[in-house]
Amino acid sequence: MSRDAVPPPVRLGDYLPPDWLIDTVHLDVRLHPTASRIIARLAMRPNPEGREGSPIVLDGDELSLKSLTLDGVPLAGTAYVVTPTALTLLAPPQRALTLEIETVVNPSANTKLMGLYRSSGTYCTQCEAEGFRRITYFPDRPDVLAVYTTRIEAEREEAPVLLGNGNPVESGAVEGTSRHYAVWHDPWPKPCYLFALVGGRLDRITEDFVTATGKKVALGIYVEPGKTERAGYAMDALKRSMRWDEEVFGCEYDLDVFNIVAVADFNMGAMENKGLNIFNDKYVLASPQTATDADYANIEAIIAHEYFHNWTGNRITCRDWFQLCLKEGLTVFRDQEFSADARSRPVKRISDVRLLKGHQFPEDAGPLAHPVRPDSYREINNFYTATVYEKGAEVVRMLKTLLGDEGFRAGMDLYLDRHDGDAATVEDFLACFADANGVDLTQFALWYAQSGTPQVTVSGCWDEAGRSYTLDVVQTLAPTPGQSEKLPMVIPLAIGLVGPDGADMPLTPDDGSNAERGVLLVTQPRQSFVFRDIAQRPVPSLNRGFSAPVKLTTDMSTADLLFLARHDSDPFNRFDATQTIALSHLVQATAAARAGAALPAPDALVAALGATLEDGTLDPAFVAQALSIPSETDVAREIGEDVDPDAIHHARTTLRQAVSGALAPALAAIYARHAPAGIYSPDAASAGRRALRNTCLDLLAAGGTEESLARAQAHFEGADNMTDCFFALSVLAHAAPQAREAALAAFHERFREDPLVVDKWLALQAQIAEPQALERVRGLTQHPAFAWSNPNRVRALIGSFAGLNPTQFHRIDGAGHDLVADAVIDIDGRNPQLAARLLAAFKSWRSLEPVRRASAEAALRRVAEKPGLSPDASDIVGRSLG
Ligand code: BES
Ligand code: ZN
Repeated sequence: MSRDAVPPPVRLGDYLPPDWLIDTVHLDVRLHPTASRIIARLAMRPNPEGREGSPIVLDGDELSLKSLTLDGVPLAGTAYVVTPTALTLLAPPQRALTLEIETVVNPSANTKLMGLYRSSGTYCTQCEAEGFRRITYFPDRPDVLAVYTTRIEAEREEAPVLLGNGNPVESGAVEGTSRHYAVWHDPWPKPCYLFALVGGRLDRITEDFVTATGKKVALGIYVEPGKTERAGYAMDALKRSMRWDEEVFGCEYDLDVFNIVAVADFNMGAMENKGLNIFNDKYVLASPQTATDADYANIEAIIAHEYFHNWTGNRITCRDWFQLCLKEGLTVFRDQEFSADARSRPVKRISDVRLLKGHQFPEDAGPLAHPVRPDSYREINNFYTATVYEKGAEVVRMLKTLLGDEGFRAGMDLYLDRHDGDAATVEDFLACFADANGVDLTQFALWYAQSGTPQVTVSGCWDEAGRSYTLDVVQTLAPTPGQSEKLPMVIPLAIGLVGPDGADMPLTPDDGSNAERGVLLVTQPRQSFVFRDIAQRPVPSLNRGFSAPVKLTTDMSTADLLFLARHDSDPFNRFDATQTIALSHLVQATAAARAGAALPAPDALVAALGATLEDGTLDPAFVAQALSIPSETDVAREIGEDVDPDAIHHARTTLRQAVSGALAPALAAIYARHAPAGIYSPDAASAGRRALRNTCLDLLAAGGTEESLARAQAHFEGADNMTDCFFALSVLAHAAPQAREAALAAFHERFREDPLVVDKWLALQAQIAEPQALERVRGLTQHPAFAWSNPNRVRALIGSFAGLNPTQFHRIDGAGHDLVADAVIDIDGRNPQLAARLLAAFKSWRSLEPVRRASAEAALRRVAEKPGLSPDASDIVGRSLG
């Protein structure tokens, strides 16, 4: 292979079982800041299902090999080969044997934050997907399951807390030294990506949890010294998650202890290591003064998510990384359901769908599109995507819609029982639902294989004389990278026919299909559904609850949409009806803006928003969602090509101004009526009231009147919690340039010691839709609070600029693209995963108008040409450029 040859991609079709199995792993880890020593004792045997007579090939990355023995005997130098990526025993005896491997790594120099590294002095690990190979030589693949025993040793001063997977076995002093040790044993066989250890000076909170069958579990949450008061909400969320999983899925916890450690430097949100979850501290630490309602909701969801992996991911893991959605899509579905039960189900669904449309739909429509189960990859780290996660969760949700609550639970029960202890596949998963329900899921499985968002076009026709109603449904799926031909999908379309009185009509389908539950089964390219005994013209409510992740097009009139906005019994479609009207106006207004014209805000839309605002029967959190005008990204996605972000911004700002003007009295009244009552509580109902009040504040300020800005200033100064304080600061920063600097300075002064709050301050400034944003972001990279080495800081500043400030990221002079490309090039040398994730912000570059498209392409090419670009970044850049 030539010097810069790219290794070939990994293909699903090439899967082979491992040649060697590992029954037990004994790790002896001696922590040291620059030279941590790991002795791994592996009890191995040939896999009867592997290839006979195989060498032992162990993965490795940036390891220094110190010694190697086989059954206690040092191996001759000719018996093995070490390369930068592997240790190969050329001709091992074909029987059970024990390898002992000694490696040394430098955790302080580990800036990739994969393997063993340090965060504020704490030793910690991150092994998913392929980080264990940075600790010791090992078959680093999820289908090699072993029982681990880990002895961790460190200076007592430096690391008084020593944590591992499983249950604590023993601990004590290392005689005659200043060191101590702890031994942990995990009885459940696991893949090495679930391995973890922690050593550090940490404070903790503890509680006991008693499982459904009466077993006591000691729960611990470990945080940086002095931060224990901020861990209480996470502990509460953990206990509620544990109970919920017992009640809803019959899943009980299976160890004596469950620990969570919060660290400040972490590439992802959190990690489900067996019995020892490691979290980005952003998703653990919360207090009313430092966390917003959204932060509390995220903490609850992510604590739940990682905990739920204990069954869906850990007890049943993935055979290979192509099956990632098997654990991630399913576990996202589970955490969504948990949050829906803990909070408002409709509001949770609305925000999940917004996330899906905002992140996954653009991914599916661009050069990075891939199936929920990809069939090839160059860098697995780049496949922890919205498609695998969010669309993966939608696919599980569709199974539930198709099979009903009981059929779904039967399938899950079978899966948890049949595959406990396995490294499973998507086929295994689907077979459980098929077997438990006696159904054929062959066509349904296309959801895992075909990328792209299906287009579903529906038109309805009422036959007055025949008293029938017909829905004609057409589905199409456009070609995506690597997939030119597509097959029709199974689309569970939940629907209702809403009568003139606003009530759902009984559904009497002609064909006896399962429309009783209100779900049409669309399986053909074109299909018609006829309903009988329809005496009055109904308004169809389609894809209720967003039952299928498709792009729906209808010929519905604005009047019918307004009718749904007021009367639909399905809250999602009630919300969506107004959004559809607003979006179609914004698309037209954007076209007008590009032609130098302006479109007035449609009266019907303003009236609908006003009616929602004044409907006292609605949940405030729902009203807050329903009042929000579709985002600039929503509009760009709807336009799809030749996108001009400035024109979109102009159209949206104009609409918000008009709504503000027209609804000012009502907005002010609702604002006043939702003034805080009593002390801050993060519960959903209180958060909903704040969300509505803050939405009113924001819409009022969009009018730009003196009065509305004074109100925002007062809101900022009077806030007794971070939700209100930060929301008011955002309003001032976006809408009140004259008040902006003072407010930002006051906020910084007050919270400068708190990195997680400083992140909010950085992120907000990066999002200001003004040309000065670029210089501001550049300047902030020099601010003492900023650090290129910390992923949270980088995502707050650079990630927010690239992902949430479309007009400035896509500046017509290309300076925004250049700023992000420069940052990526710089970060890539230190932390390739972080660089690759930032780079993915270019994913919709092809849909830009020609000038911006050219500058995005030039920026991507510049990244591509950087000598020594990481595989992570070069994979993204390569696929982006197509
Ligand atoms: N297993 C992942 C964490 C992970 C992702 C490790 C990628 C290595 C590479 C974890 O369960 C996860 O999915 N975390 C999410 C948050 C979750 C709530 C969707 C994350 O970190 O963003
Ligand atoms: Zn996960």
